Amino acid sequence: MVKKIFLGAPGSGKGTYSSRISPILKIPHISTGDLLRENVKNKTKIGLKAQDYMNKGLLVSDEIIINMIKERIEQEDCKNGFILDGFPRTIAQAEALKKIIGIDVVIKINVPNEVIIERLSGRITCGKCGKIYHKKFIIPKKEGVCDKCEGKIIEREDDKEEAVKKRLEIYEESTKPLIDFYKNLGILKEIGVISSPDETVSLILRELIKR
Ligand code: AP5
Repeated sequence: MVKKIFLGAPGSGKGTYSSRISPILKIPHISTGDLLRENVKNKTKIGLKAQDYMNKGLLVSDEIIINMIKERIEQEDCKNGFILDGFPRTIAQAEALKKIIGIDVVIKINVPNEVIIERLSGRITCGKCGKIYHKKFIIPKKEGVCDKCEGKIIEREDDKEEAVKKRLEIYEESTKPLIDFYKNLGILKEIGVISSPDETVSLILRELIKR
């Protein structure tokens, strides 16, 4: 069983690498951001509560997130492990997760701030399957259309300048303390990334094999 967390600032590439590593390790990629966006799209109770926070770049309440993740990792497809992307994001979430299940390794992705801004300002995603692209670096074969499912390519509401600023501030305040939390548990692996997604995926897999 492989239980992994990807930790890193908004735009550091958590979603890009998790979604490529998940089929290789044959374990699900669980992104709290994707789960929330699905709820918003379907106008569920959670979605209606979360939408405004997400658009402004604020965190959704720990209670909603912890219940949502607990329910998700209890599902059958997680019995051989999972990759968590975007969770935990606060010490309260990390403490709650520790009570639910133990984690083997936390991969912390280090990317310089100027690269993050460039990545987020150019990010585009598929509105249907969530596949992540970039206007300059990872371009869909046909403009505006997803390579994987032919869904329409969109820009995320929270990639607007004000929301990005807020998300980076919140990362510094609430999520960075998790670095020491997982360092103290002896399961943190830091990876510095400015190379291509393929090279980065190979680097992460090599680090995982070393363990
Ligand atoms: P979420 O969706 O988790 O957003 P995030 O953490 O801000 O992370 P991102 O999805 O922005 O970035 P990423 O690191 O996945 O980067 P990506 O791979 O896309 O959360 C959204 C919102 O939901 C939150 O703000 C909050 O409101 C709420 N939420 C979610 N989880 C929560 C929680 N636990 N608690 C409370 N609230 C929660 O890459 C970025 C771009 O770079 C892409 O365009 C990609 O193509 C490009 N790129 C990636 N790698 C490379 C590379 N090597 N070279 C060139 N381009 C690259």
